[in-house]
Amino acid sequence: MPENTLQILVLHGPNLNLLGEREPEVYGHTTLEEINQELIRLGKEHSTEVRCFQSNYEGQMVDCLHEFGKSSDGILINAGALTHYGYSLHDAIVAIAKPTIEVHLSNIHSREHWRRKSVLAPACRGIIAGFGADSYYAALKLIMKMLHKTDAAA
Ligand code: DQA
Repeated sequence: MPENTLQILVLHGPNLNLLGEREPEVYGHTTLEEINQELIRLGKEHSTEVRCFQSNYEGQMVDCLHEFGKSSDGILINAGALTHYGYSLHDAIVAIAKPTIEVHLSNIHSREHWRRKSVLAPACRGIIAGFGADSYYAALKLIMKMLHKTDAAA
């Protein structure tokens, strides 16, 4: 792998394995596999290796951040409902100290009141929410631009 290749970890949380069939009016029709494949393809266009993981368990997500986050240049995380109360994920992001973007398919600020608070946000560089699968693609372009100084987000 060329020396200047970036490594990006994409971490998906609870229930995101059901994308495509889960409340498509809220989360769209694109499956998680389709999102992951597009992220991997987009990454390749910009010398970036994208590694994707999904778990329905907070502890496994923390383990994944420890195991793969440390060796990554940046992280995209959609923690699903754990966004709103998963303090151990906040702490893991802070501990790893890699640039992290919080991603949501839906606009969490336009939904139920309890979704409006993100406990991860203080540990993240920024948040992209409300654009369906495009939230992930935009986040990847931005983190590549930030880390690689490419024009990926142009
Ligand atoms: C979500 C928003 C969360 O509130 C919800 O629990 C999810 C998905 C999103 O991508 O819009 O599981 O993170």
